[in-house]
Amino acid sequence: MAKMNILLIGGGGREHALVTQMTQSPLVGRIYCAPGNAGIREHATCLDIAQNDVAGLLDFAQRSEIDLTVVGPEQPLVAGIVDRFQAEGLNIFGPGAQAAEIEGSKAFSKAFMHKYKIPTATHETFEDHVAASASLDKTDFPVVIKADGLAAGKGVFVCHTEEQARTALAQVMQKRKFGDSGNKVVIEEFMTGEEVSVFAFCDGENLVYLPSAQDHKAIFDNDEGPNTGGMGAYAPAPIMTEELLQQVDTEIMRPTVSGLAREGRPYRGVLYAGLMITSDGPKVVEFNCRLGDPEAQVILPLVKSDLVEIMFRIAKRKRVRDLEFSDDWAMCVVLASGGYPGSYETGKQILGLEKNLGSDIRVYHAGTKSGPANRIVTDGGRVLGVTALAGNFDAVRERAYWAVGKIAFDNAYYRKDIGMKALSYLRK
Ligand code: AMP
Ligand code: GLY
Repeated sequence: MAKMNILLIGGGGREHALVTQMTQSPLVGRIYCAPGNAGIREHATCLDIAQNDVAGLLDFAQRSEIDLTVVGPEQPLVAGIVDRFQAEGLNIFGPGAQAAEIEGSKAFSKAFMHKYKIPTATHETFEDHVAASASLDKTDFPVVIKADGLAAGKGVFVCHTEEQARTALAQVMQKRKFGDSGNKVVIEEFMTGEEVSVFAFCDGENLVYLPSAQDHKAIFDNDEGPNTGGMGAYAPAPIMTEELLQQVDTEIMRPTVSGLAREGRPYRGVLYAGLMITSDGPKVVEFNCRLGDPEAQVILPLVKSDLVEIMFRIAKRKRVRDLEFSDDWAMCVVLASGGYPGSYETGKQILGLEKNLGSDIRVYHAGTKSGPANRIVTDGGRVLGVTALAGNFDAVRERAYWAVGKIAFDNAYYRKDIGMKALSYLRK
């Protein structure tokens, strides 16, 4: 078979991890990435097309004989890029818009879980501010308030007091901080437990699991401060024992995939379940329609099978096949611009990227670009994901933080406690 031309959509650490894995596939010829970043550029031709410019991406794919398009982020999936490409006869990996609504609308996702009895927090959905506000009069706190639509991980408010809840509601529904994503809100029960992310390749009917991972969403150590896109991750997550995964498979993942098929929304792509392991068992915090970021940066380096092959199979509507994984642990520490997730400066020169840190270290680029004199400079909130691989957890933590110490830019910030929960779990 002739080698395939690939178009990868996105430009974060997840996509850098994807492209790194793709280059190992014997099936792959040229790789293009829209828009990419300074790290992705080493493996792919980066295109000046925005990840949400579906028409521009379609035009490029048609003109450039692209054999497979792989979509990293959620926005183009929710906007229907897969349906548009398929209507033109192009192969594309990811769920169609109707299936992607499992992430694109929390109101849809919660109603779906309710209908198919998938364990999750109890909830109510509101379309107007007055009714939503009135519901707070008769509720116990904490509650969780969520904007219905996409909000880059920032539309969720855990409210410990009535005042916090009223402020959150006003931000979403009156001040419209997230635009139309705040047309509806979901108000739900606060769950306690440990969080873990489960990922599976789905072909519409069958699932093949990837290693589970744990993200670190809050900006500060000990999970304090506002939520971010994710400040670090590790995989596999020791809390996800084989027994627990079995339960998640039976009670959550399979009913979701079969329920979506029954609703006429067959799910083909990576299904990501954000779970809370409560004293009542695993419950869904949210579903996402793609790989997580930074989770992808710790999961993908553990995949020994050909990732392009499985994505191509799913795009071609063939059955998923089992995957092989390495026995290593992976841990990623995100280096962010000081100030993130609030405002921050960009354009800072990054030092240390030229160093060879060893084959067990992967420095994935997120918000980077080429600056003057071909220097690589910061260009986003999350700048780099420094991932280490090792045969035991102590070693992986030590190597990841060792590598972080070799890289520097002005006002760089990172969490110092990535992986601590796994360590305490493993020592029990
Ligand atoms: P989401 O974007 O829905 O994953 O929410 C972001 C974060 O908010 C989650 O990772 C949790 O830490 C927290 N969260 C969301 N929903 C709940 C809930 N019902 N109970 C407790 N924490 C939640
Ligand atoms: N790391 C969280 C996410 O990708 O949604």
